Amino acid sequence: MKIAMIGTGYVGLVSGTCFSEFGVNVTCVDKDKATIKKLLGGECPIFEPGLAPLVSSNVSSGRLAFTTDLKKAVSQADAVFIAVGTPSRRGDGHADLTYVYEAAAEIAEAIEGYTVVVTKSTVPVGTGRKVKQVIINTNHDADFDVASNPEFLREGSAINDFMRPDRVVIGTDCPRSENILRELYRPLYLRETPIVATELETAELIKYAANSFLATKITFINEFADLCEKIGANIHDVARGIGLDGRIGNKFLHAGPGYGGSCFPKDTLALVKTAQDFSSPVRIVETVIEINTKRKIAMAEKIIGACNGSVEGKTLAILGLTFKPNTDDLRDSPSLTIIPILQAKGAEIRAYDPEGMEEAAASFDGVTFCAGPYETIENSDALVILTEWNSFRALDMKRIKKLLKNPTIVDLRNIYVPQDMENAGFVYHSIGRSSARKER
Ligand code: UDX
Repeated sequence: MKIAMIGTGYVGLVSGTCFSEFGVNVTCVDKDKATIKKLLGGECPIFEPGLAPLVSSNVSSGRLAFTTDLKKAVSQADAVFIAVGTPSRRGDGHADLTYVYEAAAEIAEAIEGYTVVVTKSTVPVGTGRKVKQVIINTNHDADFDVASNPEFLREGSAINDFMRPDRVVIGTDCPRSENILRELYRPLYLRETPIVATELETAELIKYAANSFLATKITFINEFADLCEKIGANIHDVARGIGLDGRIGNKFLHAGPGYGGSCFPKDTLALVKTAQDFSSPVRIVETVIEINTKRKIAMAEKIIGACNGSVEGKTLAILGLTFKPNTDDLRDSPSLTIIPILQAKGAEIRAYDPEGMEEAAASFDGVTFCAGPYETIENSDALVILTEWNSFRALDMKRIKKLLKNPTIVDLRNIYVPQDMENAGFVYHSIGRSSARKER
């Protein structure tokens, strides 16, 4: 089986590489010559743990190739995956499908023989049908069917999420295209991975429903964390106490500064727009978006509160800039909201992130970027932890106490235990917990 993967971003490169690991012959295509040059030179343009060696081993095996020549890759493919970006459209939040339709038109001109054109990018309900129309309008003779095969990859664990998915969702119009996709995923099938085979629109909606539900779950626990702070309850115990209920599940119940990333913010917004277009608003998701946006601002206020109500002329050490650990991605990261607010209130910012420094340099003004956590903390008035990188989980607190001008720590990811921090002599602020209660 031969496939072409159009787009070599977080989704396309991981998916193409993992398919080649399954034994499929994959050609990944990208318009961006620099990206393809990097890949051909053995360089991985994105940070994803485990991806670089997997790319190089499959390139060496001859199953994985990279090119800017879409025509050639598509002409030889049994299935073509559209894995291009679908950013939020400026101004109105609808998904911008420009790249999807451009890819569809180019694919139409290159199809030779029966081909399944699969949308893997996250696209609003109904896009698959429009892709079909674009292909027909561009090339009446194209022998093809369209399909939807949404991905559920998390940055930082994308390879594992592809290789050991909870399920594979396939949306098709006919058995022929469904069978080709089932064949592609057969290695997983052998692992008894459930395959949800359904219509196009349903497959597209499943993706939005999944991300919106996860964003809702996170926002739910974040609101309860605020309530816990008022009551003097412990959000970790609340999360554990409800998460042990099989109907709720214990995942995605970590309270924090609000969700970010390239998916939850844009997918929840796109879903709200789609629902409004169909006069069937998803008001819970609308509220989740509003709460999450306000939460990031409230976190800046929490930090200011921890500095006795003013950060004017104070130096704050920020550890973690990416939207989550094990990624270099800052898209919609809470840091992008929090840091400018602190700066506007007169704070000097020193910052460090294990992988996000390059993107951070292009995302912030007036921030002093440091080479590591302790350099960042030196002579600062307070330490703020924004991202729960493993390398921040066992910091030398005795050393930090000496480095800080004031023993103030704001831990927005609850990495540390309040009692321990108090015992170490810090004024420790975290999410949904108070030092009154000993963590069990
Ligand atoms: C998400 C979905 O999980 C994935 O299935 C989809 O394909 C793409 O979007 P991703 O955005 O990479 O993946 O990261 P994820 O691990 O889901 O975290 C998203 C955001 O939620 C991050 O900002 C993270 O910090 C936050 N989060 C996650 C919490 O605040 N609490 C949690 O318990 C989990």
